[in-house]
Amino acid sequence: MGRMDGKVALVTGAARGTGEAIARLFVHEGAKVMLADIRDDAGRAAAEDIGQDAVYQHLDVRIQEDWDAAVERILAAFGKIDALVNNAAVLVIKSLADTTGDDLLRLFRVNQLGPFLGIRAVMGPMKAAGGGSIVNVASTDGVKGMNGVVAYASTKWGLRGVTKASAMELARHRIRVNAVCPEVGNFEMAAPFIGEGVDPKKAAEMNAETILKAPEGYSFEERILDVARTVLFLASDDCPTATAADFIVDGGMTAGYVQPGIPGDR
Ligand SMILES: NC(=O)c1ccc[n+]([C@@H]2O[C@H](COP(=O)([O-])OP(=O)(O)OC[C@H]3O[C@@H](n4cnc5c(N)ncnc54)[C@H](O)[C@@H]3O)[C@@H](O)[C@H]2O)c1
Repeated sequence: MGRMDGKVALVTGAARGTGEAIARLFVHEGAKVMLADIRDDAGRAAAEDIGQDAVYQHLDVRIQEDWDAAVERILAAFGKIDALVNNAAVLVIKSLADTTGDDLLRLFRVNQLGPFLGIRAVMGPMKAAGGGSIVNVASTDGVKGMNGVVAYASTKWGLRGVTKASAMELARHRIRVNAVCPEVGNFEMAAPFIGEGVDPKKAAEMNAETILKAPEGYSFEERILDVARTVLFLASDDCPTATAADFIVDGGMTAGYVQPGIPGDR
């Protein structure tokens, strides 16, 4: 028996990376899934590869009409929507001095306005069906500060605010809203900034030192799967009382650090 048997889910930013992994896992667990993205060729290919329980929908999360069309189609095709995963996001890596207001607004529209529009688009059908689960993919940059990500971090902190405030209003309708805050170390998102101050090798070394030592050979795909499994836990019926919470999947990175020279350091 799958943990998403009979459920219908919409996953944004699902043409590649974490979103695709979430969609694949949901279908594996018995769900019918709409993969949504703006990378239409990759999104269609991903849905086809996942199989007949996956459909692709062009959905730019910044655009209200796109949300309306996606929700209309999912209701027409499957009759309901049980889970929304707000996963689509974009990144800018620049120093504070180099970050412009336009950079910040561009990220805000995808990373924070997008999930806000998504929540508003699905809350009606979820209320009518007696409940649902919304999972917002934030980041460890939404629970701490770091150089180079002032715009991105603002939107991810903001997304946690959207999560908590929405959860307060939606709990009475049995709609849960949670945030997952991963540290994956995937630099596909960061690819446009490589060479412009971003050194993926150095950053990966920092990750390896700081976060929980993963099993030998633990790949990037396996890290993504950790995130997908956390999203599955929240989207399924495994935790009916978990709402308004942050689920940090970072190997302990944001919790603290080992201070050399103090007992317990080895
Ligand atoms: N990869 C990491 O290291 C990492 C770490 C922490 C948090 N996250 C978060 O995890 C989530 C997924 O990240 P990823 O690494 O898979 O990223 P990714 O860049 O590989 O995938 C993001 C997807 O979102 C889509 N997208 C971008 N703008 C969109 C829009 N306006 N409308 C719809 N879709 C849009 C892209 O086309 C892409 O397919 C994001 O929310 C990201 O912030 C990632």
